[in-house]
Amino acid sequence: MSKDYKRIDSYDVDFFRSCLDESSIHLDDEVLKRYGSDETEDLCFPPHIVLQPSSTGQVAAIMSHCNQQKICVTPIGARTGLSGGALSIHGGVGLSLERMNKILHIDEKNGQVTTEPGVITQVLQEACAEKGWYYAPDPSSKGSCFIGGNIAENAGGAHAVKYGVTKDFVLNLEVVLPNGDIIWTGANTLKNSTGYHLTQLMVGSEGTLGVITKAVLKLLPLLKHQLLMLVPFYQAEQACQAVSAIFQAGIMPSALEFMERDAIDFVLQFLDDVVVPIEEKVQAHLLIEVDGNYPDVLMQDCERIMEVLSSFDCGDPLLAEDDTQKNQLWKMRRKVAEAVKSHSVYKEEDTVVPRYQLPTLLNGVKAIGKKYGFRSICYGHAGDGNLHVNILKDVLNDTQWQEMLPLAITEIFELTRSLGGTLSGEHGIGYVQRPYMHLAFNATELAIMKGIKSVFDPQGILNPSKILP
Ligand code: LAC
Ligand code: ZN
Repeated sequence: MSKDYKRIDSYDVDFFRSCLDESSIHLDDEVLKRYGSDETEDLCFPPHIVLQPSSTGQVAAIMSHCNQQKICVTPIGARTGLSGGALSIHGGVGLSLERMNKILHIDEKNGQVTTEPGVITQVLQEACAEKGWYYAPDPSSKGSCFIGGNIAENAGGAHAVKYGVTKDFVLNLEVVLPNGDIIWTGANTLKNSTGYHLTQLMVGSEGTLGVITKAVLKLLPLLKHQLLMLVPFYQAEQACQAVSAIFQAGIMPSALEFMERDAIDFVLQFLDDVVVPIEEKVQAHLLIEVDGNYPDVLMQDCERIMEVLSSFDCGDPLLAEDDTQKNQLWKMRRKVAEAVKSHSVYKEEDTVVPRYQLPTLLNGVKAIGKKYGFRSICYGHAGDGNLHVNILKDVLNDTQWQEMLPLAITEIFELTRSLGGTLSGEHGIGYVQRPYMHLAFNATELAIMKGIKSVFDPQGILNPSKILP
């Protein structure tokens, strides 16, 4: 696949003007720059033009033209990604899906929703909840991220531990292929053993195989109650050890999140409106939620969890009293990434290991930090064995930082692999994790992925320089 893409000229702009209205076409430098970054570090790769189609037909027309002209196209959602999946590395068209923002149909009889990709995840969740249905995947950015981006990255979030990640909710997708053809990947059924599973292939493909223009998602009956507790630990390792013990005791929490001390301190400094008293000696917290329809059963679940935790070095739990306190605790957890970003240049890794290996992963990351002289802030979805590792630049100079980073990241990934884990649990490989793919897959495995890419996108115009090394 050659990288010599055609630079957009007046012929192309005229074509785009023939299928989109003027307000959906942007050539202004300021706008291009804005669309050239997401939440991935401080990277900026602006497209040469931003297009905002409002229909599948318009997406198809754009793709067909770009394929004929060999112009590269990068699908762009809400730009909340953390692996650079939406960055226009080679310029070209930045294809923003933000105008395709309608929830098309909530099928209350079957428990399904059909939506366009530019709907904000929380908006979708709330619309479904109003009708008594639950869409579970909730990345921390749920208030701003798009459902299309969640599907592209196979996003997870705090409730994945009980309900699964985005892939577990996607039943069927309308996709525009790089050549402009429009396909549906499956059927609107809960089960489907019919042919290769194109739906699941598309989920998590990070906008490299096709552009998602509609999604049919599974919904669950909405449960009425949640109990949430914050449990302090005096050693971070003990908090991680307690995680698998909870499941082994036969308890299924609806969320089980880990935050080490620095993460909590950063976020409490960052948020004026969240006040949570933290004892000096506390080194980490678990945020544990259980959900169901019967509050007394949930209280029993919490008591059983505390019984399990009593064998670990923990303090008294804070049981959220009301919705306001629950929202405060959740806000504290969800804002960690932003708080860290506001504090220092950093690099975020999204490590994931089998749950029982979490304490070994945490200790290993800290040891690698000692070796290379960096501080790390660790937090994440402990119940899934998914630890976000934020490597801070702090006082390191630019040369130290640039030399150290690839070596340290390689060691962290080698560690996750040796523990039976892999590179990313929910943020994707995108642009920034690409150089490490050989640590997760051998040459044969990578060749299969390259083969799949070339079936969908023989010219390599769609989201180039992502995922594959
Ligand atoms: C979180 C994002 C960073 O868990 O995945 O907060
Ligand atoms: Zn996360």
